[in-house]
Amino acid sequence: MDQDVNGAAQTPRRLVVGISGASGVVYGARVLDALNEMGVESHLVVTRAALLTLSQETDLTPDDLTSKATVVHRLNDVGASIASGSFRTLGMIVAPCSVRTMSEIATGVTSTLLTRAADVVLKERRPLVLMVRETPFHLGHLRTMTALTEMGAIIAPPLPALYARPASIAEMIDQSVGRALDLFGLEWAAVRRWDGLKGPAAEEA
Ligand SMILES: Cc1cc2nc3c(=O)[nH]c(=O)nc-3n(C[C@H](O)[C@H](O)[C@H](O)COP(=O)(O)O)c2cc1C
Repeated sequence: MDQDVNGAAQTPRRLVVGISGASGVVYGARVLDALNEMGVESHLVVTRAALLTLSQETDLTPDDLTSKATVVHRLNDVGASIASGSFRTLGMIVAPCSVRTMSEIATGVTSTLLTRAADVVLKERRPLVLMVRETPFHLGHLRTMTALTEMGAIIAPPLPALYARPASIAEMIDQSVGRALDLFGLEWAAVRRWDGLKGPAAEEA
């Protein structure tokens, strides 16, 4: 068991990572890379639709993706460690999060390990970060996001932070990933942090 300097039990540096079939599978891949860089254990569960987006949006194979994770769980393995609240984690991120997966989490009628693990994180009052990717939203989507927020989830769509002046799509993606990981208290070196206005605007403000 992990202990702090006083010998008290500490939550292991362990995050559940769900990757669902919204556009932007690369966000999930970069979450895994970031966790590896930070020495955080990752527990990965991937939906079938996410394997479709992987093939359409990247040159990665399913093995390339899963090899980035510490532990890979099968989608239908509802007896996995992450299906129980007694398995301690820092929480869960779903990156990207499809409307289908988001809606299933909101109902509590969970049919896969991914959505069961998210339900567990909610019931244990741990952080659940959903990088929901769809546009535009209809009223049902917005109401579902409101309901999830009321339940304690954090809706964190992967929107570009142009104030960070990304020089590439890769930098834009890493900024969104890093800001989402901030929500678990995980500080990734790739994040560009705002340090106040610069140039003439700083004088005028
Ligand atoms: C290339 C591709 C891109 C997609 N993009 C999105 C998207 O951005 N948002 C979304 O909610 N669904 C998107 N979908 C549809 C989902 O994959 C579909 O609703 C699927 O049932 C989601 O299943 P899952 O939640 O189990 O991953 C996309 C599908 C494909 C093939």
